[in-house]
Amino acid sequence: MVYGVNDMAYVVPPRDARTQSAGVVAGYAQTASRWPAQPAARRPHGISELTGPRAFSRLKTTSADLAGQGARRALGQLIDVRVSIVDEDGAPVSGALVEIWHCNAAGKYLHPNDANDAPADPNFYGAARLAADERGRIELRTIKPAAYPVPDTDGWWRPPHIHFSVWGRVWLSRLVTQMFFPGEPLNEHDHILNAVPDPAARAGCIARFVPQAGSALVYEHQLVVRGRNASPGLP
Ligand SMILES: [Fe+2]
Repeated sequence: MVYGVNDMAYVVPPRDARTQSAGVVAGYAQTASRWPAQPAARRPHGISELTGPRAFSRLKTTSADLAGQGARRALGQLIDVRVSIVDEDGAPVSGALVEIWHCNAAGKYLHPNDANDAPADPNFYGAARLAADERGRIELRTIKPAAYPVPDTDGWWRPPHIHFSVWGRVWLSRLVTQMFFPGEPLNEHDHILNAVPDPAARAGCIARFVPQAGSALVYEHQLVVRGRNASPGLP
């Protein structure tokens, strides 16, 4: 597909079925409404596509410490998540807007639609919006999320994971994905993670544990916002 951009034109490569997740995941009803049922339509780029979130002051950034917003520290294993945001050539995407959400250490989201019979934690706030620094990096202090059962399924439990939504320099550069934790047995059984056919692409969705001294376990992760090496979209 070729788009005209001013006097230039570039080719949007087709979605890589090997490294991107299947559009509709069997057994996970919500995916049918999250993925387009029609092929992509050709459309010229305008100001809505060629501007980015930094132009909008309404999108305020938040605290990068989800575990430290209550009267006491949130329950759970304290972790630091260091994420680098890069483009398809590996260059840092400074200023990328990164929205993050995950459940608490009992597997409960801070969301009214979460019917999981697990306790809320009044000291845990499960979402953040951060801007990548000049090296394209963000660092989140939080607690490790727990596994949780997926409603109306036959024994499917989501492994511990963190959701990310990333805007790059323009609104078109958007990635919605999930980060998983190494060594989790549920990773092998997760319908979302295993909707990515390529083992190397799946491995790229799993953070790297970095042993080091300190009060929190440290994980590093990389997100590629778009292009031939784009991180799998995992809505
Ligand atoms: Fe989730």
